[in-house]
Amino acid sequence: MKFNFDKTVNRFNTDSLKWDEMRKFYPNAKEDPIAMWVADMDFEVAPCIVDALHERVDHRIFGYSSEENMEYNKAIQKWMIDRHDWHVDHESVFFSPGVIPALGYLINLMTKPGDGIIIQQPVYYPFAYLTKGNDRKIVDNTLVCVDGDYKMDYDDLEEKLKDPNNKLMIFCSPHNPVGRVWSKEELAKMLDLCKKYDMPVISDEIHFDLTRVGVKHTVLETIDPSYKDKIVTCTAPSKTFNLAGLQNANIIINDKKLREDWLYFTRHVAHLDGHSTFGAVGNLAAYEKGAEWLDELKVYLDGNIEYLKTFFAEHMKELKVIDCQATYLVWVDFTGLGMTDEEIDKIMIEEAGVLLDTGTCFGEPGRGYQRFNIACPRETIEKALDSIKIAFNK
Ligand SMILES: Cc1ncc(COP(=O)(O)O)c(C=O)c1O
Repeated sequence: MKFNFDKTVNRFNTDSLKWDEMRKFYPNAKEDPIAMWVADMDFEVAPCIVDALHERVDHRIFGYSSEENMEYNKAIQKWMIDRHDWHVDHESVFFSPGVIPALGYLINLMTKPGDGIIIQQPVYYPFAYLTKGNDRKIVDNTLVCVDGDYKMDYDDLEEKLKDPNNKLMIFCSPHNPVGRVWSKEELAKMLDLCKKYDMPVISDEIHFDLTRVGVKHTVLETIDPSYKDKIVTCTAPSKTFNLAGLQNANIIINDKKLREDWLYFTRHVAHLDGHSTFGAVGNLAAYEKGAEWLDELKVYLDGNIEYLKTFFAEHMKELKVIDCQATYLVWVDFTGLGMTDEEIDKIMIEEAGVLLDTGTCFGEPGRGYQRFNIACPRETIEKALDSIKIAFNK
């Protein structure tokens, strides 16, 4: 490999949420805990990104940036065509300091207080807290897990789409935390139903570059171009290239009226103007020169997942690893241990010292599960899993 993903980098005292704030969230954790919770990676970013940022730093002036960064816009378009066979109009690309802030703005633009928003739990928790926090109603079209395979419940979805009180669906593709890459058939079936009831969809595709080697993601709006005005796609290089701290996401809005509403809201209500200077530089370098690094990263992540699967199959047979087709977040079924979540969390945090996201963070359907972030050097995974084995054997 050209890039060294085995290198362990000390992230303490870097204002890292994952490492510096873990004591705040897990006050009872044993000494020297291993952080496998927050979804960022413990790998150094691609050298091309560091070089571009250095060059920008050397300019020594960091004033306001323009939102009309055509060079970056073109790089986004090229990335989407090359990696996802997706043609994005340059007028459709809008800047946001993150996908989550964008979800907050869009909920305000696309729904009214009291409206129902359909989500599919267990799912990335901001979908629920932003819905609630904006005084909308969570309408859960729970995913069903049959023999370790997560599927959508289309009958239940249709019931929810039919209800005139429900005004928006927020979809996660690939899905965090269950790791599904939805097939074209599954997407088409879902979209047909949305179309039947004229339901707009926000499709959060932030993990779409991080599929397993050989697995292909399909962008939802490419399934049915005639419905693309009803879909907003949220993307960013932040997961792909580990740039979350640079705070720069790309929100793809096709509908003309919604674009106008977005511009009004972001300029006159939230005052969001111009890219983060370093975000645009980092993202541009990533999209223009980062493909080789990403391809190697994907191989390394596949190896980490394989290691975890093999370890549990050999040493903790009660745990079932859900097939992780994308993301670096592995969803593991702990119900075979016959313990409560509270008992599992206590052992994990206080005895094993491995900090995960407990399944109920993602809604009640996540009960009995834990989410592992495996985007770290293999050595960290080895240490964490050994420690879990010892703690649970006790
Ligand atoms: C599905 C999903 N959407 C959005 C985000 C975060 O987006 P951002 O950091 O751009 O706000 C995450 C982070 O884990 C995620 O898993």
